[in-house]
Amino acid sequence: MSKDVSAFVHSLYKTNNFLPLHEPVFSGNEKKYVLETIDSTFVSSVGEFVDRFEKMFADYVGGKYAVATVNGTAALHVCLLMAEVVANDEVITQPLTFVATCNAISYCGAIPVFIDVDRDSMGLSADKLAEWLAANAEIRGNECFNRRTGRRIKACVPMHTFGHPARIEKIKTVCDQYGVVVVEDAAESLGSFVGDKHTGAFSELAAFSFNGNKTITTGGGGMLVTDNEALAKRAKHITTTAKLSHPYKYVHDEVAYNYRMPNLNAALGCAQMEQLDGFLAIKRSIAEQYKTFFESREESFVVERAGTKANYWLNAIVVNEAKRDEFIEQTNALGVMTRPIWGLMNRLPMFKACESGDLGNAEWLEARVVNLPSGVISPA
Ligand SMILES: Cc1ncc(COP(=O)(O)O)c(C=O)c1O
Repeated sequence: MSKDVSAFVHSLYKTNNFLPLHEPVFSGNEKKYVLETIDSTFVSSVGEFVDRFEKMFADYVGGKYAVATVNGTAALHVCLLMAEVVANDEVITQPLTFVATCNAISYCGAIPVFIDVDRDSMGLSADKLAEWLAANAEIRGNECFNRRTGRRIKACVPMHTFGHPARIEKIKTVCDQYGVVVVEDAAESLGSFVGDKHTGAFSELAAFSFNGNKTITTGGGGMLVTDNEALAKRAKHITTTAKLSHPYKYVHDEVAYNYRMPNLNAALGCAQMEQLDGFLAIKRSIAEQYKTFFESREESFVVERAGTKANYWLNAIVVNEAKRDEFIEQTNALGVMTRPIWGLMNRLPMFKACESGDLGNAEWLEARVVNLPSGVISPA
């Protein structure tokens, strides 16, 4: 089975060379804009490209404010700080995610609680979340507490896995009932929508990533998006060392972070944003060809849920559990990079003591899901 798949992927990408999961394409104004930053000397954290990138990004995702950061993990960390997550709070998330989600929670001194995902979206299950909260949470004052641990449950971080939107509207409704703040980890979902609303626009705060493997890249970079002006201002303040404006003095009013995205990276971001619609169209066409190919096979291709539009950031198939590792080994040996989905976060040493609900779907997916090459074929 791996031979047919490898041959198909090579034919799809029209090459016999090794095919990575995702690689960046710089086919627009990237060099021009980066050279402009060098010529202007504004390569660091001040410069017009940062402001331009933030504006382009906010407009695209339909958020009022966007704050650019050094990476997506930093954006998520700041989102959680803006949600007022503090040490010893609990933050609900999914066990099936990239480790950065849980790292950001830990940077706040908070403790992840793992709730299962849905099989179709691979994102946090709204139903399992509602069940878990009904069984374990109580509201005191305006706040939500875990009855067993006594800790406050401050926030919930659903993640749109591989660009497939989670059932975010229902998650938000459930969290609102308990006074739990939703922070969307939209690191993987630039260009993914529920109805005509962009992922990340359903919650008060959302974080995106522009790592080199993402749909658009700034080398390294991230973005916090919010409609709340006060939170946006505060996010910008604490990502720029909490420096107060002054003609010549260094005045800082709190311990803060050097998380601001450099202008050099934002220059790449502006050029990549100009090409986003084109990238998404190519990714959709690749996904459609995978879908057709896998229709007649035993592996099944993960498609977008009805009512949603996925960006197909990383294409995924569900493979028979007993054959999965062999499939991965053989496709890689044949020059096609494939990777298993992440191991569950609750198995990692630093998170294994964290509370979890029943994780049946996450365990099922963990044993079967494999990612396939998904990069944008360069139009050049
Ligand atoms: C789900 C998820 N969350 C957070 C991140 C963190 O982003 P970054 O690598 O830009 O720090 C990533 C990507 O790398 C991710 O896939």
